[in-house]
Amino acid sequence: MKNKVSARAHTNIALIKYWGKQDPDLIIPYNNSLSLTLEHFYTDTTVTFDDTLSEDTFFLNDQRINDKKVFHFLDLVREKAQKNVFAKVESTNHVPTSAGLASSASAYAALALAASSAIGLQLTKRELSRLARRGSGSASRSIFGGLVEWEKGHNDEDSFAVPIEENVTWDIQMIAIMINSHEKEIDSRSGMQHSVDTSPFYHDWVKTTEQDLINMKDAISKRDLAKVGQIAENNAMKMHATTLSANPSFTYFNPDSIRAMDAVKSLRKSGITCYFTMDAGPNVKIICSKAETPYILNKLSPLFGADNLLVAKPGPGATII
Ligand code: ADP
Ligand code: DP6
Ligand code: CO
Repeated sequence: MKNKVSARAHTNIALIKYWGKQDPDLIIPYNNSLSLTLEHFYTDTTVTFDDTLSEDTFFLNDQRINDKKVFHFLDLVREKAQKNVFAKVESTNHVPTSAGLASSASAYAALALAASSAIGLQLTKRELSRLARRGSGSASRSIFGGLVEWEKGHNDEDSFAVPIEENVTWDIQMIAIMINSHEKEIDSRSGMQHSVDTSPFYHDWVKTTEQDLINMKDAISKRDLAKVGQIAENNAMKMHATTLSANPSFTYFNPDSIRAMDAVKSLRKSGITCYFTMDAGPNVKIICSKAETPYILNKLSPLFGADNLLVAKPGPGATII
């Protein structure tokens, strides 16, 4: 057999964060999370299953990489399909890799779709979300477009994402302030595990996030951008509090991240509806309206450089290309 399929998936940024696993092998999280899939950032991945290959190979942005996570993921796909055939995986990130812009989300959503199709599995979106989750938790959400919730579930069968609003028709989008696109020192996986293991605030993170999620869904149903932004900003800072309170402590903030968050706050004081969120990396994302984006870009360009401000509107789910 020789079968080649290409897929594209977009990244997503969480408004309610996933930060910690109950089951690290199956990737079952401690809490539900909720995100916005973004049009601007994505991954294209081509998978070729080929009988004549004697090993798996993986190329990221044309560079051959020995990535055990990718090979383990291919094992899961082979197991599901009951086929023993090696694959060549070629992937291109249209998003900085490992910089807190969710490359693992677009990566494993694209890989789940391309690999499962190439091996001959026909999975539903729910099954694809479950499969993508095994590669990277946040990838479960990138199977869908728009606003998406990952229901934590208890086991492999019932932990998957569901779309809340696949076609976002109201005025919400993000601006990413690119502060540093280099690879982070502490990847998301080890950062969250260390927070779970050592932060005395971890339990409160989970507990308060459950209420944040309820409030967030209410704000989304009312299309209340200010409420959505407020809840998201507060939820993100509580997540980062678990890194600062870990032992030993660590942080994804750098001085420019703080400068960016301060700039968003001062725009807000001047009457603009804008809020910030941060993930496992120094780059700051602004939650705002399309209508006020030109004004925000104008104000932030002198501070961060126009080229470092990337506008990301709501994006679509994973597709075969
Ligand atoms: P990010 O904030 O970018 O999601 P993570 O620490 O969560 O950072 O994940 C980074 C990891 O995701 C990389 O080390 C790599 O293992 C994986 N990854 C990123 N892009 C790809 C890709 N296109 N294909 C396969 N794996 C990828
Ligand atoms: C801060 O999904 O990258 O971006 O499941 O270990 O691959 P693994 O981690 P990952 O974690 C994302 C953490 C976050 C918050 C979020 O996207 O919900
Ligand atoms: Co990630």
